[in-house]
Amino acid sequence: MTKDVKPAAAAKGAGKPAPATPAGAKRTVTVIDNATGRKWDYPVISGSVGPDVIDIRSFYSDSGMFTYDPGFTSTASCDSTITYIDGDAGILMYRGYPIEELVERCDFLEVCYLLLKGELPTADQKAKFVFDITHHSMVHEQLSAFYRGFRRDAHPMAVMCGVVGGLSAFYHDSTDITDPRQREIASYRLVAKMPTIAAWAYKYSIGQPFIYPVNSMGFAENFLHMMFATPCEPYKVSPVLSKAMDRILTLHADHEQNASTSTVRLSGSSDANPFACIAAGIASLWGPAHGGANEAVLKMLGEIGDHKNIPDFIKRVKDKKARLMGFGHRVYKNYDPRAKVMQRTCHEVLDELGLHDEPLLKLATELEKIALNDPYFVDRKLYPNVDFYSGIIFRAMGIPVAMFTPLFAVARTVGWVSQWNEMISDPGKRIGRPRQLYTGATTRHIPKKKG
Ligand code: ACO
Repeated sequence: MTKDVKPAAAAKGAGKPAPATPAGAKRTVTVIDNATGRKWDYPVISGSVGPDVIDIRSFYSDSGMFTYDPGFTSTASCDSTITYIDGDAGILMYRGYPIEELVERCDFLEVCYLLLKGELPTADQKAKFVFDITHHSMVHEQLSAFYRGFRRDAHPMAVMCGVVGGLSAFYHDSTDITDPRQREIASYRLVAKMPTIAAWAYKYSIGQPFIYPVNSMGFAENFLHMMFATPCEPYKVSPVLSKAMDRILTLHADHEQNASTSTVRLSGSSDANPFACIAAGIASLWGPAHGGANEAVLKMLGEIGDHKNIPDFIKRVKDKKARLMGFGHRVYKNYDPRAKVMQRTCHEVLDELGLHDEPLLKLATELEKIALNDPYFVDRKLYPNVDFYSGIIFRAMGIPVAMFTPLFAVARTVGWVSQWNEMISDPGKRIGRPRQLYTGATTRHIPKKKG
């Protein structure tokens, strides 16, 4: 972690302004040990926007004590110029650009470029980037043999963990992490190949032949094509569905230091190769508390079944016998900005598919209306999150439930590699090594064996 946090110029003026520190004055926070009266001063560092942080890096050497913060609820593990979230205000920005503008005015590959390089591409830069990503989308042919080692009923995330980790065995020319060019190639390979790897995991599970990427197609279009085409007949991807998929990819592209991103950073802090680090991120994303909530929303709507059952369900939620899935978020205590876009996209997709009377959507809309006006949810600041609508969209698109999380992995790969690159390029990088509060046995001894 570098000592000075450089402001991301584009983020200035958005979200919560950092409190002003008088020119020349250094703000500090004093920690006092009430038992001994010893005191230590720690500098306060301001980012470009958002809460200040107390730099406690020397705390252990000063005091002989650690700080204790399981779950990192009050701890910044790094500094970053990539993504900013203000959960109270419902703000999400990539490199300073609000998510709402990015989904309206940019396509997913422009957003990838932005996340990876810090700025939106010029027309020439975009053309080259699209060419490069497109021409890395095929995987080494021998990798297809990996799939055959898995059972057909393997979860696609299990297959993805294995296959992505296996990329390290194929692309030795991009695993020297000290070489920026090799890091760039590895990043491009991961972003480009992930849709192919995910789509093939699906094809394998249903016993259909793998469909190869087509270079004339856009990123989202290609992914849908590899998922749903067969060699038997031409398959035309609906432009509405491919635009919706493109937006969904943008919405999920990064979310600062969440569990999977922190996993990628921690794995990478030991200088492990990027393919292995992203496989670790996929493993973390797989958990139902992270990538699996949209699946739970569908299950919940299915269980409610009919709008006349909503009052009973809400009562069960208030009695803590059920959870309103797709509501609430650790960071957002306001409308998740991604949920608003998802809601709109959901209506577009269902209209395109002639499913506007889809009972699940009606049920979801009614549930949302009731919850947004009910003091139980209002008082606890429980708003719809990104997963409330995404499961309905995916289902309408014909994406099977088991592919929801792999799709998330396809989108998040660019966030993971951008964060990984940022960490590796930081001259102050150190291996991540949290400490602990040991509560186990104190020293004890094994009795000597007699005889
Ligand atoms: N339904 C009903 N009550 C809820 C919900 C919910 N979805 N979420 C929180 N609450 C209640 C809790 O019971 C608690 O009430 P209390 O104060 O009376 O005890 C209060 O709101 C605070 O909840 P916590 O669980 O402490 O909030 P936390 O920040 O730890 O949890 C979480 C956040 C896990 C996302 C939670 O809101 C939840 O379980 N939501 C449903 C699952 C979901 O949609 N997850 C997707 C998140 S988005 C993503 O990962 C991409």
